[in-house]
Amino acid sequence: MITVVPSIMSYDHCNLLQGVHIAENYNVKRLHVDIMDGVFVKNISFGPQLVHDLHQHTSLKLDVHLMLQHPEYFVEQFIEYGADSIAIHQESSGNIAKILSNIKAHHCACALAINPGTVPMTNLISLVDYILVMGVHPGFSGQKFIPDTMNTIKKLIEYRQKNELNYQIAVDGGVTDELAIQLAEIGVDTIVSGNSFFRSPQKFMQSLQQFLK
Ligand code: DX5
Ligand code: ZN
Repeated sequence: MITVVPSIMSYDHCNLLQGVHIAENYNVKRLHVDIMDGVFVKNISFGPQLVHDLHQHTSLKLDVHLMLQHPEYFVEQFIEYGADSIAIHQESSGNIAKILSNIKAHHCACALAINPGTVPMTNLISLVDYILVMGVHPGFSGQKFIPDTMNTIKKLIEYRQKNELNYQIAVDGGVTDELAIQLAEIGVDTIVSGNSFFRSPQKFMQSLQQFLK
């Protein structure tokens, strides 16, 4: 069974609320909000104000994905503004374990995001509610899924079983409805989808119907 989390960055930035309503109408429970600083990735997306305002306009849970060189400067503000979970990258600067623990201490779910090719550190895995496995090099929506990501996902599923851990596995970037079915079948808990979901939400949700939580 799988949870679908639409990524609002893929929707028309002049009509974001329309994108939120589409997500709500398809009965999803969460929305993915990509935050990019132009340094950690070569794009600039949204800031804390968007999370604040989304929180006023929707009851969808807000999963904030920080693609920031210095996430520690912003986590508390995102929590105050209504984030339900925050993902920070292992590749960011600073003491990642400390930042994750700080998120937890503020009663917000925390996640470790990993870029393609990054091996997640076991001491960090044990701290998180979920791992956000990137299927693309982050920065832009509409990219193609990198096939080698499957190996990382399978290793994380094995590691979870072997060590009787409870973290969830979410996959972000390049997830089409066909791929989402494969991911559901191997034990992924959550998929984030921008381009494929918003291009045709009905087709996307219909093809996943029997796998939806
Ligand atoms: C990539 C972002 C993703 C992206 C997903 O940098 O983190 O969340 O918006 O969009 P698609 O599904 O189009 O790859
Ligand atoms: Zn993302």
